[in-house]
Amino acid sequence: MNDLDTAQLLIEAARGAAANAWAPYSNFSVGAALLMADGSIVTGTNVENASYGLSLCAETVAVAKASADGRMREVVAVGVVGGMTGKDGIEPILPCGRCRQILNEAAQAGKRDLKVWCSGLTGGPIAEYALSDLLPHAFGPANLGIV
Ligand code: THU
Repeated sequence: MNDLDTAQLLIEAARGAAANAWAPYSNFSVGAALLMADGSIVTGTNVENASYGLSLCAETVAVAKASADGRMREVVAVGVVGGMTGKDGIEPILPCGRCRQILNEAAQAGKRDLKVWCSGLTGGPIAEYALSDLLPHAFGPANLGIV
């Protein structure tokens, strides 16, 4: 599969996941989809909480799901979509700063940079980034003496 097809597949998976977003406070639904080394996909959504600050982002939930299944080293690419729940959303959204750091843990574990594809909740262009460009000079395992 070429990069464009893979990006579209991941973004569609992220859009499917976003339908399950738990976002009753912000009404901003986010879906994330991780492409794994074997071609399978692990998804996540944002999970908000009445205690607002406890809310979890979609990318973080997806990485936690993968890691809990022993698959932290297998992530090769990420698709992210987001927008107001129930509305047309065609502006790409990018992972927040905390999620970039969380994604970097998976990148470092697998010893690879991650492609990050971003799009709107219901459509719009797909923007492509490298995680290393979104989070330059990242803090990581090497800073703890772990290679
Ligand atoms: N959100 C994510 O799920 N991922 C991001 O990268 C940015 C923000 C969520 C958090 C919150 O539930 C909602 O979007 C609005 O900030």
